[in-house]
Amino acid sequence: MSVRITAAKLMVLSGLMAALGVSASPALAAGDAQAGQAQAMVCASCHGQDGATAIDPSYPQLAGQNERYLARQLKMFQSGERDVALMTAQLIGKSEQDLDDLAAYYASLPSKVAEATGSDADIELAMRIYKGGIAKKGVAACSSCHGPDGAGNAQAGFPRIGGQSAQYTAAQLTAYREGERRSDEAYGAMMRGVSKGLSDREIVVLSDYISGLN
Ligand code: HEC
Ligand code: HEC
Repeated sequence: MSVRITAAKLMVLSGLMAALGVSASPALAAGDAQAGQAQAMVCASCHGQDGATAIDPSYPQLAGQNERYLARQLKMFQSGERDVALMTAQLIGKSEQDLDDLAAYYASLPSKVAEATGSDADIELAMRIYKGGIAKKGVAACSSCHGPDGAGNAQAGFPRIGGQSAQYTAAQLTAYREGERRSDEAYGAMMRGVSKGLSDREIVVLSDYISGLN
């Protein structure tokens, strides 16, 4: 965790994690990575053989994402709670165990990192928001939940965002801001809250910066 987190923020965070039932004990691994691999051929056609080389730059990297987050997203695609027809169609007929197995498989693969392409000024701006938030707009520091290096928090199911496709990240931040992505409901709509204060330009520079984090 970043040393920049204030005591007050930590208290909010730990209160939140307690409310979510996140305990300090290691999460039970529900999925079987090998069984997941056997089902992943169809996924590879879009997300790449290694889960990190998608056929389209706007498609997310899955490799190295934490299992808890992946399993939740797959269940929400299947139920339509995260409403993306393209992904829902991939999961027809799959059992909960199948989804847990796929999540375990992608969590077991090594993640890849890109390189931020923004100007020094853009990267500086993004870093300031990432590590310190924007107090006057109510934007919380990204690092307080996603970690200083973007690795997320596997136990809490906070996603890894470091190294993610910049186009994908920008699209997700915009979708949360516009209220189109509501998969954060179980987390008190925290990403909709965080992204509300972000301008289009801040989303672009942040997403570029995050793509190079590791
Ligand atoms: C036809 C292309 C395609 C196929 C095949 C496909 N996906 Fe996806 N997947 C996408 C796209 C596009 C998104 C981004 C959706 C969005 O805009 O939110 C996505 C998103 C995801 C996410 C969310 C990632 C995140 O960071 O939140 C997961 C998990 C996922 N896919 C897993 C799978 C699995 C497992 C399979 C195979 C059963 C699969 N996908 C097959 C295109 C595909
Ligand atoms: C209070 C904790 C918290 C803070 C602060 C926070 N996030 Fe998140 N973030 C989450 C959680 C939890 C999720 C998963 C929500 C869901 O399931 O939709 C998430 C999801 C995301 C996603 C979607 C990941 C994916 O693979 O689809 C992105 C991108 C993201 N956050 C970026 C940011 C950025 C940028 C900031 C800072 C401006 C930030 N977050 C601040 C907790 C947080």
